[in-house]
Amino acid sequence: MFVVGGSVSQLFSKELARLLDCKLAKTEIRRFPDTECYVRIEDNLKDQDVVIVQTTFPDSNIIELFLLQDAVAEFKPASIATVVPYFGYGRQDKKFKDGEAVSARAMANHIGQMTDSVFTIDIHNTAMLSEFVVPVLNLSAMEAIGKFLKENSVDVIVSPDKGSKDRASMAAKAASCAYDYLEKTRLDGQTVEMKPKSMDVGGKVVAIVDDIIATGGTIIKASEQLKAQGAKRVIAACTHGLFTGDATAKLQAACDLVVSTDTLERPTSKISAASAVADALKAA
Ligand code: R5P
Repeated sequence: MFVVGGSVSQLFSKELARLLDCKLAKTEIRRFPDTECYVRIEDNLKDQDVVIVQTTFPDSNIIELFLLQDAVAEFKPASIATVVPYFGYGRQDKKFKDGEAVSARAMANHIGQMTDSVFTIDIHNTAMLSEFVVPVLNLSAMEAIGKFLKENSVDVIVSPDKGSKDRASMAAKAASCAYDYLEKTRLDGQTVEMKPKSMDVGGKVVAIVDDIIATGGTIIKASEQLKAQGAKRVIAACTHGLFTGDATAKLQAACDLVVSTDTLERPTSKISAASAVADALKAA
């Protein structure tokens, strides 16, 4: 078995190869002066089971993934699995107006062309998994996040809303701690309050877990409210640390610690989501 790592998924790929006890293929990936991508795989992958890992964000990495799939297929391997740790365009999963592209569906169709299976992690909307033309498995980084939070002595894990409380539950199981979800109440035209549904956070170390942090607005609001209710320390933990604009600086000001996984490589990537894929591949 070989793991082939794309240029934006090196941390994830190295950890996956380590967990699977297999080789990380030697690759040459570079850009021509006009920014087009060049890909070459130096190991011989004939008759091997190959796992390609590449996040499809930003856009240029989509092309790199297609070239990696093409280069791998050229060897006639025994099988190709494609891991897309952060599935870019996953949030555009519906048509809101006539004539709009359903971007997540377009991505699913194309990625499925040159692979036997696909793995994603904490994809935004699991409903769109049915758009893939090959078998697909959506895994979660919440167990890995929970283990990290346990090492950081977290007392309670909360999700920013009721809809995502299953994530908090999964992380809390791994952290052996309690969980809750934040409930938003509109106090007046301008003010909303977010507080745990049933738990007192006074004097506690609280972690807010989410699938993705983009602008940071959701987490910042939640952290401010938890601190106002007496939380001793607030940790923000997410699978996908997109961190648009000045989100990182604002989050660091609002939270005591901000961590994310290696689905997107960031200075905050203190947790690897590769174990979810390694476990699934070993069980297959
Ligand atoms: C919402 O559905 C997601 O789970 C996140 O809560 C959301 O995308 C976070 O966005 P932002 O960081 O911009 O508040």
